[in-house]
Amino acid sequence: MATRFVLTVAILHLMIWDCYAVSGVIWHKQQQKFVQLFSIPEFAALQQENLAKRRATEKPDMSGEVVKAVYYEEKNIVMFYDNDTKVNGVCGDLWHVLAEYLNFTFIPIRVTNRNFGERLENGSQNGLVGMLARNEAQVIMRSGFYPSRFDIVDFTTPLWRSRFHIYVRPKWQFNNTWVFTLFSWQMWFYILFLFIILSYVV
Ligand SMILES: *[C@@H]1O[C@H](CO)[C@@H](O)[C@H](O)[C@H]1NC(C)=O
Ligand SMILES: *[C@@H]1O[C@H](CO)[C@@H](O)[C@H](O)[C@H]1NC(C)=O
Ligand SMILES: *[C@@H]1O[C@H](CO)[C@@H](O)[C@H](O)[C@H]1NC(C)=O
Repeated sequence: MATRFVLTVAILHLMIWDCYAVSGVIWHKQQQKFVQLFSIPEFAALQQENLAKRRATEKPDMSGEVVKAVYYEEKNIVMFYDNDTKVNGVCGDLWHVLAEYLNFTFIPIRVTNRNFGERLENGSQNGLVGMLARNEAQVIMRSGFYPSRFDIVDFTTPLWRSRFHIYVRPKWQFNNTWVFTLFSWQMWFYILFLFIILSYVV
């Protein structure tokens, strides 16, 4: 029994070795239901140990440095709540996870103007990119990839890629007089001439 337990734990240990964020479920015999894997103290300890090991080598501790992140409300991507002091959504959640992982102080800034930013005639930028350029914020919570902004913005690894295809229906053009272009007008004249001659002869 003891060996089996060790073996099971060892196998599970290997299984969770590579999945730190995924919280799987496991059948709890006493409670007769599925419970979160990491709610079991043994596995929670393993996870903490793994996290600590990873953080010791990888985590650049930003020591609570203030990071102001700016964006506008965008449904399911960045959604502000708690009087605009917190964000959720696909990209919003990510920043809270990063803030915890890298130990920085995350301050969301909500703007109402949905202008992402464009270069003005005098060379300065407006919109969200402008706020970055003026150091009013350090992060734009979500951005597309624009090589033209490399001088102001560093991009992270892309979270997802999307492709656009444009399908253009071809427009057919008919020229109903194409038959007459086959021969020169002299040729047509001879054909007509022959036709008349032959119709008399026969
Ligand atoms: C995060 O940074 C603060 C401020 O420097 C520090 O006191 C704290 O120990 C750090 N936390 C972790 C988990 O490293
Ligand atoms: C929301 O935030 C604003 C600006 O920081 C503040 O003036 C206001 O009192 C806050 N409202 C609530 C309900 O906390
Ligand atoms: C550029 O023009 C904008 C608007 O016209 C102005 O707000 C900004 O201060 C100008 N920037 C510089 C560097 O002159």
